[in-house]
Amino acid sequence: MKREQALYRRALGLSAEIQRHRRWLHQHPELSFQEHRTAAYIREVLRQLGIPYTTTATTGTLATIGTGERRVVLRADIDALPIVEQTGLPFASEHEGIMHACGHDMHTAMLLGAAALLKEREAELPGTVLVLFQPGEEQLPGGASRVLAEGALDETAPIAVFGQHVLPELPVGSIAIAAGPIFAGTDELYWRFRAAGGHAAQPQQTGDPIVAAASFICQAQTLISRRRDPLTPAVLSITAIHGGSATNIIPPEVQLQGTLRSFDQKWRQEALDWLRQTTESLAALHGVEATLEVRAGYPPLINDEQATELVREVALELLGSDHIVPFRPVMWAEDFAYYSQRFPAAFWLLGVRPPEQQTMPGLHHPSFAPDERALPIGAALLAAVAWRTLEISAL
Ligand code: NI
Repeated sequence: MKREQALYRRALGLSAEIQRHRRWLHQHPELSFQEHRTAAYIREVLRQLGIPYTTTATTGTLATIGTGERRVVLRADIDALPIVEQTGLPFASEHEGIMHACGHDMHTAMLLGAAALLKEREAELPGTVLVLFQPGEEQLPGGASRVLAEGALDETAPIAVFGQHVLPELPVGSIAIAAGPIFAGTDELYWRFRAAGGHAAQPQQTGDPIVAAASFICQAQTLISRRRDPLTPAVLSITAIHGGSATNIIPPEVQLQGTLRSFDQKWRQEALDWLRQTTESLAALHGVEATLEVRAGYPPLINDEQATELVREVALELLGSDHIVPFRPVMWAEDFAYYSQRFPAAFWLLGVRPPEQQTMPGLHHPSFAPDERALPIGAALLAAVAWRTLEISAL
């Protein structure tokens, strides 16, 4: 039997255990950078498996399986979201207002499963598998940037870094993957338009932040329609507007929030410059003061051509060609992007929709309930991808 099939067979044997991990994690979700019990659980499982580990980014864990100079990194994110769960599952969240609605409980459980699979066959491994349980994916600046800033991977020079994310649009048994940019680079934008404020009947006595903000919102949309190569995807969404309290008062302040997402780092910088200039110009035009604060988000996630091909080859053995679909890039953000900026990397999407159903609630939805039959598939894929990577010296 081919190794990929053998790993999958064994992963099926470990299904109950992987499911148990997933359900415990689901029941005890923790917010970004507060994953203390989650980290303790992960480390206890690693101890039981006899896998050594170190701590990174406080609640992150970097475990080591095998030996040798050839190294590969497998990464899962471990944090949950501030969402009130409505799945009605028997193992629903015990933490009010916090839920694993992005499947990171699945990611973590599958990586624990992969670690178990690889540990069992450690003596055969042609190198070292670094297993990274990363905190804080859902919150800027992102756990990946902290892991890298702390130098956790500095000495490792991995051949490649791999990760996966559950995808409710795809049925269990399939993966989606594509080379090149697959997730966008993002920025969080915060504006304040300010003036003296005053009586609504005497607008001539003050600048009007509401009119200035409204004018800005309309003008800002020309960034996408007039300032961008039409063949380069990008989106600007203004997502919050706050200001004012009564019909007879011109308020002293209006606040806006929004997000800018694109795949092109150079255009992104030009766009931010243009937004700053436009904010200032419109403020001057309307006699108000305005500031734009940019909180830099994750860079675009770019899948390495050869690393992607390697995942495809492994998935072909495991799932068959009918179950590998091309991934159409989306404007989501994902801090795995930081690894992809630094090392050859590939990130794939794992189907978790019950094949009997046509649809299911999406990511970040309070009723999101991925099909656990995906667990052994994801675990085997991770293990098999790592193993095959170690058989080559470089991509
Ligand atoms: Ni996620």
